[in-house]
Order: sequence, then C-alpha cells, then structure tokens
Amino acid sequence: MNAPTTATPQTTADHPTTVRSVEWIGGLDGHVRLIDQTQLPEKLVYIDARDVATLWDAIKRLCVRGAPAIGIAAAMGIPLALQQEASADGNALRACARRAAEYLATSRPTAVNLFWALERMQRVLDDPALTDAADLRSALLDEARRIRDEDAAMCRAIGEFGEPLIPDNGAVLTHCNAGGLATAELGTALAPIYIARAKGRAVRVFADETRPLLQGARLTAWELQQAGVDVTVLCDNMAAQVMRAGQVDLVITGADRIAANGDAANKIGTYGVAVLAAAHQIPFYVAAPASTFDLATPTGDDIPIEHRSPDEVACGFGRRTVPAGVACYCPAFDVTPAALIRGIITDRGLISPVTRENIAARIGT
Ligand code: MRU
Repeated sequence: MNAPTTATPQTTADHPTTVRSVEWIGGLDGHVRLIDQTQLPEKLVYIDARDVATLWDAIKRLCVRGAPAIGIAAAMGIPLALQQEASADGNALRACARRAAEYLATSRPTAVNLFWALERMQRVLDDPALTDAADLRSALLDEARRIRDEDAAMCRAIGEFGEPLIPDNGAVLTHCNAGGLATAELGTALAPIYIARAKGRAVRVFADETRPLLQGARLTAWELQQAGVDVTVLCDNMAAQVMRAGQVDLVITGADRIAANGDAANKIGTYGVAVLAAAHQIPFYVAAPASTFDLATPTGDDIPIEHRSPDEVACGFGRRTVPAGVACYCPAFDVTPAALIRGIITDRGLISPVTRENIAARIGT
C-alpha cells in the first residue's frame, strides 16, 4: 500500500525549475505523495503515504525534510488520519485528528514549521461552525492544501526580495538544502537564485556537501542541476579556502527556527559558515518565510536541537568510517547568532539589521 513508486519529475507549471516534494493526490479519500529524498540523487522515487504512521516515519527518516516541507506533510497528515475514522460524529473526528497531531509533533523537534502547521490545523478543529462531519473533513483538507499553496507563494516572494542581493555573475554559497525539495516549490535560500535565473541573469552556486547526511551534495546539487544552474559542490572543510580566494560574493542559507532576537537554527555547520563569512567580510543572509519565525522563543539558546543517531556520523550510507565503540556527536542543527546575519530575506521583505525590534515589526503582526 505504501510502497515507493518511481516516476518522472512533476514540475510546476510556472516555475519549471523545481519538483514537487510533497503534495496531496486526489480528493478526500486521497493520499500524500512525497519524494523520497533519501534516494536522491541516484533515484527519483515517490512514497505514497496512506496512513499517519507512514508519514511520521517519512518525516523522521528525512524522506521528506526541510522545515516548510515537514510542516506541509504534517498538515496533510490530519485529513489522512481521518480516513481511518469512519464515524460521522464530530467529537470522534476531532479526537482522532488531535491524536494524529500529537503523534506527528513527536517526529522532529527543531523545525518550528511543523508545529506552526499543526496549530493551523488545530484552529480549524476548534471552529465551532464546523458541526457537520463532512464539512470538517473538507475544511481540514482545504487548510492543508492552503498551507502548501501559501508556502509556494512565500517562496516566490522570498525569491523576489532576495534576487537583487545577488550581483551580476555572482557566486552564492549555501549550506544544506533550502530549495524546492525542502519547501512547496522554489525553496527559501535557493529562491533568489531561481528568480535570478528566470530573469536571465548568470549566477553560480557553491553547495557545501553538508555532513553527515549530505543534503547539499545530494539534494541541492541535484535540483540545481535539474534547473540548469551552475553548481559546484564543496566538502564542508573547503568553504574557508574558497572564501579566502575571493570566489564567494554572498552566503544564503535557510532556517528551521528563528528566535525573536534573530538567532537562527539551521543545519549543523551553518554557524561555522557564518563565522567564516564574517572573517572574510562576506555578507551572510538567512532566507525564511514568516512560518519559520518563533517569536515565543526569546533567543537561540531556547531552540530545541534535534540529536540524531551517532550512526549517521559513524556509518554514513552503509560504510563504517569510525571505529566501532568510538563515540560520535550528532546534533542535526546549530544556531547562528543574529549578530552574524546581515539580513533575513522573508516573504514580507528584507529584515536588516537583524534586531528584535525589526523582526517584531515585520513578523509580529
Ligand atoms: O535535517 P533537514 O534536512 O530537515 O534540515 C534542513 C535544513 O536545515 C534546511 O536548511 C532548513 O530546513 C531550511 S529549508 C527551506
């Protein structure tokens, strides 16, 4: 029922540069289709998730990953869960949906988009006007689809606001994957690059490979290659030398959660890149939609950081590279202090300088 399916890339109509990482197939009795990102770049394989357990597992194992894509997938998990509840009783449906939301919330802790999306679904569940069971089911599916469509629009806006920051023939260094695979469409960090390309401008990208799971090498390089963008992969320890050689004009990364003061959690290694950028006077930007801000979290110190299995470091991709019995450290994210961030490119415009006040003014309304 949930076996992976292979298929040709489904490109978006208006932006043929990106693929659909997560979407709802069919109507109320439909299902969630995900690109299994663990299989890229070797195979483009889809997972058809027809129950919440499959979806939870896909999020946990990073088959679907990237903060916005995780949020969209979790939201779609709610109408999916209701397919297992035959009752026409509103209370029974609401209880089923709440159980699913609580379960999905345990999949990954750092990306706030997951919790933001589930809160949006919760607001639909709390709507007292939805007394009819069929209406409730439809409203939940509509909301999940709206979250996806809004994310696509936010990515486009980020692209438009970020594109002027890239100089002609400029080179952008990025870390991890904050592209179409990580979102509904264009991505966050990669959106300005796609928009620059769509406007006929030349742009080059350095993609950090991003140990231990290689989202930069496997995913960013794959989707930029699909889009015909000039991309060069660097081992993470090469970024300093490339910057020192004057080959990087700016850095743009995504974010998984941005605290009220502008400290930004993103893939492990991002903080190091920001320190390197500062040392070489290279502007370091974070690109993120409003849904990635967590104004209830005062600073980066308060952001929960996911720790993953040490085997991801010791036995990456099936090959043991650390002696058995040796400890490995495996935080999935780190926090870049606001002071190192030149600006945050949001769907509501550029926030610069990155201060608590500027964030509250742009995002807090
Ligand atoms: O562990 P991952 O692959 O989900 O981490 C993803 C990142 O850190 C991305 O850079 C971030 O979510 C931004 S995605 C637009």
